[in-house]
Amino acid sequence: MRRYLRVVVLCLACGFCSLLYAFSQLAVSLEEGAGGSGGKPQAAAASWLAGGGRGAGRGAGSAGPAAHPGRSDRYSLKMQPVERVHLAVVACGERLEETLTMLKSALIFSIKPLQFHIFAEDQLHDSFKAILNSWSFLQTFNYSLYPITFPSENAAEWKKLFKPCASQRLFLPLILKEVDSLLYVDTDILFLRPVDDIWSLLKKFNSTQIAAMAPEHEEPRIGWYNRFARHPYYGKTGVNSGVMLMNMTRMRRKYFKNDMTTVRLRWGDILMPLLKKYKLNITWGDQDLLNIIFFHNPESLFVFPCQWNYRPDHCIYGSNCQEAEEEGIFILHGNRGVYHDDKQPAFRAIYEALRNCSFEDDNIHSLLKPLELELQKTVHTYCGKIYKIFIKQLTKSIQDRYDRPPKER
Ligand SMILES: *[C@@H]1O[C@H](CO)[C@@H](O)[C@H](O)[C@H]1NC(C)=O
Ligand SMILES: *[C@@H]1O[C@H](CO)[C@@H](O)[C@H](O)[C@H]1NC(C)=O
Ligand SMILES: *[C@@H]1O[C@H](CO)[C@@H](O)[C@H](O)[C@H]1NC(C)=O
Ligand SMILES: *[C@@H]1O[C@H](CO)[C@@H](O)[C@H](O)[C@H]1NC(C)=O
Ligand SMILES: *[C@@H]1O[C@H](CO)[C@@H](O)[C@H](O)[C@H]1NC(C)=O
Repeated sequence: MRRYLRVVVLCLACGFCSLLYAFSQLAVSLEEGAGGSGGKPQAAAASWLAGGGRGAGRGAGSAGPAAHPGRSDRYSLKMQPVERVHLAVVACGERLEETLTMLKSALIFSIKPLQFHIFAEDQLHDSFKAILNSWSFLQTFNYSLYPITFPSENAAEWKKLFKPCASQRLFLPLILKEVDSLLYVDTDILFLRPVDDIWSLLKKFNSTQIAAMAPEHEEPRIGWYNRFARHPYYGKTGVNSGVMLMNMTRMRRKYFKNDMTTVRLRWGDILMPLLKKYKLNITWGDQDLLNIIFFHNPESLFVFPCQWNYRPDHCIYGSNCQEAEEEGIFILHGNRGVYHDDKQPAFRAIYEALRNCSFEDDNIHSLLKPLELELQKTVHTYCGKIYKIFIKQLTKSIQDRYDRPPKER
């Protein structure tokens, strides 16, 4: 019995020693990790970003973690993960320049690192890669480029029913399975505030909310859905899907009420029957389907104010977005092609100013004066009447971001 005990004690001691050894090895490897990256702990975040940025720059996500396996493993042991903001866009046709200007506006003002998910027609991929790789010196973003695609299950059937480009956004929760939350924007969006600001609304969702959008109209007398729609829609005037914040984890988990069956359906199961039922009655494509879904599940939608999705509709019939007048315009949405024609010169001027500017601090500062002159010329137009609100917002965003010492940024 005694001998038996002694053996047990010996074994325990051996186990303890090998544990000690393992820990000491771990400590050594951590120190090496820090030393290799330039020593200072603050430097770790920057070089981790640079590593990720370069890796994923090759596109389609696959190159990301594999490019520096040792590196990212070590850092993930050592660092608090930086929360990444995921931004998705779908670019088809002639939308390259517009999409890049949108991405640029996101980069100019944002604080947290951004992860772009760009769904684009194949012929645009090379141009996206060339430009985005030339921005990689910023080290504050990362991107994955995807073809326009359907979820692998039932892809053939999806293709028969859905126009791929127009409906891509509906499938994002099913395609980006690993992503928890996502901000989807149309290509004709310009950020005038950091993306971080809209991202922070995710934390304001109550337990039943899964997505957030702005109303389609502030003024029911000129609303589209309430006057013309031949299908159900959310709320008084419907919602606009040009800026859509999603907690996709919740979207994937939820069972949705609907008017097709008595049982509730998952996101992946609701889209096809919905389209089959309503395809003859919908005008604005997938936005209409979203309106139908949230009509039946109103408790799941967080409605944010119009300043997060500011469109010509908010100024051409007189200014009807009160929050924007009081607090500023946070996200501009140049729908109806107003960045590219002469109908709303105020929208076009802002687009061109951001398109033309480069990423140097000085250059971003010096965007304001000529833009103000340009906007003053538009004061005879409806949206030009509120040009001071545009300038005030841009001045504030630039000051917030660039007039602080570099260390605090
Ligand atoms: C870049 O993307 C890869 C995956 O594609 C990820 O592992 C890495 O953390 C990302 N870096 C940043 C800065 O988002
Ligand atoms: C489509 O519109 C027609 C005409 O307004 C209407 O009678 C019909 O009920 C609508 N279909 C559905 C599925 O709502
Ligand atoms: C999304 O919802 C899931 C499940 O409720 C939650 O765990 C996660 O933190 C949410 N994401 C964000 C960014 O709030
Ligand atoms: C969350 O907010 C929505 C919209 O205000 C509301 O309809 C819903 O009942 C709320 N959910 C809970 C659990 O309070
Ligand atoms: C942007 O550049 C174009 C030429 O590339 C020029 O015509 C236009 O006036 C510029 N706009 C602004 C607002 O800087």
